[in-house]
Amino acid sequence: MAGSCGGSCGTKESQQAAAAQKELAISRSLGKIKNKILVMSGKGGVGKSTVSVNLALGLAKKGYQVGLMDVDIHGPDVVRMLNMTGSLEPPSSPDGLVPPLKYNDNLKVVSLEYMMRDRDEAIIWRGPLKIQAIRQFVSDMDWGELDYLVIDAPPGTGDEPLSVAQTIPHVKAIVVTTPQKVALADVRKSINFCKTVKVEIAGVVENMSGLICPHCKETINIFKTGGGEALARELDLPFLGKIPMDPMVVLAGDDGTPYLSSDADSPAIQAFDKVVQAIENRLPAVAKAPVTLKMTASEGACACGGSCPSQARK
Ligand SMILES: Nc1ncnc2c1ncn2[C@@H]1O[C@H](COP(=O)(O)OP(=O)(O)O)[C@@H](O)[C@H]1O
Ligand SMILES: [Mg+2]
Ligand SMILES: [Zn+2]
Repeated sequence: MAGSCGGSCGTKESQQAAAAQKELAISRSLGKIKNKILVMSGKGGVGKSTVSVNLALGLAKKGYQVGLMDVDIHGPDVVRMLNMTGSLEPPSSPDGLVPPLKYNDNLKVVSLEYMMRDRDEAIIWRGPLKIQAIRQFVSDMDWGELDYLVIDAPPGTGDEPLSVAQTIPHVKAIVVTTPQKVALADVRKSINFCKTVKVEIAGVVENMSGLICPHCKETINIFKTGGGEALARELDLPFLGKIPMDPMVVLAGDDGTPYLSSDADSPAIQAFDKVVQAIENRLPAVAKAPVTLKMTASEGACACGGSCPSQARK
């Protein structure tokens, strides 16, 4: 439909062109990301950010290229949990893409926090603005080649998970819950949401599953345990693991020294490791070629003849 100009002003056309450009930028960016993971929960405070951060760190530790995108505007905790300072730099490359912040060589981070001048501003952010910001996180950021992009969304089934689902085709959800009945009722909502928007569920994580006594290391099941696992079984969803409650996790989150970067060995760290392993198994990304692979000197190609992971990565 033409505007009042009779179709000569081109406004509509240029808007359409800009929208098409954006779509192209989004699919170009997503084309370089092998696995997209949306971490969801029905309720706040169940450990969604903790799981997102530790999952991203755990995968990065294994040598994968990982991106972590925090789209929880009301509690952008990722940056604090990783104790990151600094702010986004203007684009440096000719394509005009903004480099995400680097946590280490394998982990890049972007948070909605960088788009707010202060946290109180979050209150005035309305749906369309949030949706636009999330789309920009995909279209305008220089994520490069990633094996995994982990997205920490706010609790519930509002604008943010919806726009992630709409912007990122093939995104898969991880639903985090605690073992209590109330939390499990909320999980069902998350699961129904995923069905409605056709997001595949990669699995369920049960967090705060029992407390490890700091003295005797026995597990005390304050919220009971196994509820998330039972629900996953009932709904025929993959169960990715249980993480016990461990006071160290709180301290690590508050200090900005995330858990999996610590060398301490505890049941909670082992549990996080298992969840990371379960994700790696369910959503494989071809790892970097192991250094032990033989290369034929002439072509610099792998001795496998093209069937091994180092070839598939190219
Ligand atoms: N397994 C755990 N053991 C102990 N404390 C935990 C555990 N998981 C999360 N927490 C703590 O619970 C609080 C809420 O976790 P958070 O990840 O911010 O939840 P959400 O993102 O779902 O709101 C934080 O203080 C965090 O350190
Ligand atoms: Mg959070
Ligand atoms: Zn004890």
